[in-house]
Order: sequence, then structure tokens, then C-alpha cells
Amino acid sequence: MTLQDHHGRRFNYLRLSVTDVCNFSCNYCLPDGYQCSDSTPPLSVDEIRRVVTAFARQGTRKIRITGGEPSVRRDLPEIIRTVAAVPGIDDIALTTNGWKLPTFLPGWIDAGLTRLNVSIDSLDPRQFKAITGHDRLQDLLDGLAMAHERGFDDIKVNAVLMRGHNADQLPHFLNWIRTTPVSLRFIELMQTSDNQEFFEENHISGDSIKAQLLDSGWQAALRKSTDGPAQEFWHPDYAGRIGLIMPYSKDFCSSCNRLRVSANGQLHLCLFGDKGYDFRHLLGRDEQITDVIAFLQDSLNEKKATHALHDGDTGVRTHFAGIGG
Ligand code: GTP
Ligand code: 5AD
Ligand code: SF4
Repeated sequence: MTLQDHHGRRFNYLRLSVTDVCNFSCNYCLPDGYQCSDSTPPLSVDEIRRVVTAFARQGTRKIRITGGEPSVRRDLPEIIRTVAAVPGIDDIALTTNGWKLPTFLPGWIDAGLTRLNVSIDSLDPRQFKAITGHDRLQDLLDGLAMAHERGFDDIKVNAVLMRGHNADQLPHFLNWIRTTPVSLRFIELMQTSDNQEFFEENHISGDSIKAQLLDSGWQAALRKSTDGPAQEFWHPDYAGRIGLIMPYSKDFCSSCNRLRVSANGQLHLCLFGDKGYDFRHLLGRDEQITDVIAFLQDSLNEKKATHALHDGDTGVRTHFAGIGG
């Protein structure tokens, strides 16, 4: 059985948020340092196992654990171990803000983590602190070095370039990946209902970054199935690659391969749009996994061909902290 929608897209990748709490306060996401949007307890490890089992029985191979910040959960290693033990799952990725990365990483790797994405919005420690609210850049860099030593060769680093804050970092980032073998992804700032004014002032189009890259010898790579939403670029003189995530470009949604489950047990068919389809009542017992499978097949019929931003809708999500981007 597979998860396929009316538009011919197959979904073999689940982004699973394990908490909506975040300990950072990035100025484009949680500017007021809003830590927790929901008082409902997050999915338990058993509930997570049932969600993942239902997806795996329909062909899901990859789980990306997101938040909020997943590592605020003390049982994150147990979550990783549980997900890794589900038959059919062979890729367990984590998106983290990298807080205490060198301390946590060995435990996550031992538990079965296979991929790592971190956010680094500036390579300047003061600017990093101004954007995220925390002085943690060195932790992140140390953690990345450790991940490389432990054999992680597909690390992705996310940066949101913003006109009034870190646009000057582009050359520093490029210099960094001359010798650092990561995939550096510039994510276009996305509008949410929490950041509308901020968005107007700071949005930089991915196309303008693309033009600068092409002017300086970067070349567009052929699309691979592992690229996700990013358009990738490479340069013969650089150890790292660049990915551009440009959700405002027209054909962005045609290659969508992912579904999302929030920390309180709601299915989200798209990053944009706050509507979630609650199925927590189906997660209490192993015998209900067949009901979860039926629920997923039914809900998928509602997935639209493109996201709401293309219809001129704005501010369709309060922020991405609860759903992990
Ligand atoms: P892979 O698992 O490596 O494909 O990762 P990814 O690039 O999707 O993962 P990551 O968690 O690092 O996400 C980076 C950002 O990409 C997210 O926060 C979003 O901003 C954006 N993104 C990921 N998936 C989608 C999507 O389906 N739609 C939109 N608009 N943006 C997405
Ligand atoms: N626009 C673009 N990227 C965002 N992220 C969070 N909020 C936004 C937004 N409004 C990114 C973070 C992190 C990823 C999971 O989501 O920078 O790298
Ligand atoms: Fe920053 Fe991610 Fe936390 Fe939002 S959820 S404040 S982007 S670390």
C-alpha cells in the first residue's frame, strides 16, 4: 500500500514534530520568545511508534524529527531508538537548532540517527545571538565537526537571509563552505501571521541569490530525490554545496513528497494552512493502527495541488515552530 494523492504525488517521507516548545527565539519565527503554543502534552513514545508504524506500512521510509526544538525533550534518544526500530524505516533525520549539539549528538547517533540538519543564520557570533536570542554559534560549529568525525557526510545547514539582519553574511557563508563539506541551504523568508511586517522589511528573493551564484561560477545541479524542496548548486572549488529553498516559485509544490504530523497528533497536508486533521484518538492502542492507515488514506484526498500562498493568501500559519518547517 502506498500514500499517493490525486495529483500523482507519492508520500514516502514524514516530518514528525515531537514538541512545539522551542528554547530559541529567532526573530523571524518566535520574535517574542514565545516558548510554547499549546498546553496539550506532546505525543508519547508509544503514540509516536504507532504513528510511524502506520506510515511505514504505507511505504514511508524516511522520518524527519522536528519541533519546536526536539532536544528539549529529554526522551529524544528513546524516540530516535523507537522510530529506528519500526520495520521499514531506514532513514532517521533530525532538524535541530543545535543547542548543546556536542553534548547530545553522541547519544542520538547511538540511538540510530542517520541525518542531521541545523540552522545557522549567521557565522558572526554577535549577529547569531541577535537573531536567535542565544550565544550558541560555537556549540553548533563544534557539533558539526563532531558529526563529520562520526561519519555524517550529508549534513544540511539552514540559513534564512534577511535584508536588515544578516544579508551581509552571504560572502562569509560562501567562504566557509570552500572547505566545509555541508549542503548550505538558503531558505527564503516565509510570511506567517506572526511576522508580516518583518517579512515586508526583510524578505530577499531566492532568485536574487541564485543570480549572484550563477554569476560567480556556481552551477545548477541535476535534481536528485534527496534534494527535498531545495534547488542545488555546486562549484568545483568548493567542498560544500548550496541549496535554495524558494517556496514562492511557481512549481515548488509539484515535487512535494512529504506529510507532517504535529506534536499533538494532527496530520498537516501542507506547511502552509493551519488546518490539522486530528487523529490522536486513534493512537491509544496498537490494534488501532489499521484505523490510522484508513484515516491517512482518506485525508490525503484533501491535499491540494499547490500551497495557499499561490492563491494570494498570506499569513496562513502563525509560525513554523509547532510544525518544524
Ligand atoms: P530533507 O529531509 O533533507 O529533504 O530536509 P528539508 O530541507 O525539508 O528539511 P529541513 O527540516 O532542514 O527544512 C528546511 C526548511 O525547508 C523548512 O523549514 C521549510 O522552511 C522548508 N521546507 C521543507 N519542506 C517544505 C515544504 O513542503 N514546503 C515549503 N514551503 N517549505 C518546506
Ligand atoms: N521562513 C523561513 N524559514 C523559517 N524557518 C522557521 N521559520 C521560518 C520562516 N518564517 C526555518 C528555520 C529552520 C527551519 C526548520 O525552518 O530557520 O532552519
Ligand atoms: Fe528558531 Fe526553529 Fe525555534 Fe523557530 S522553532 S525559534 S526557527 S530554532
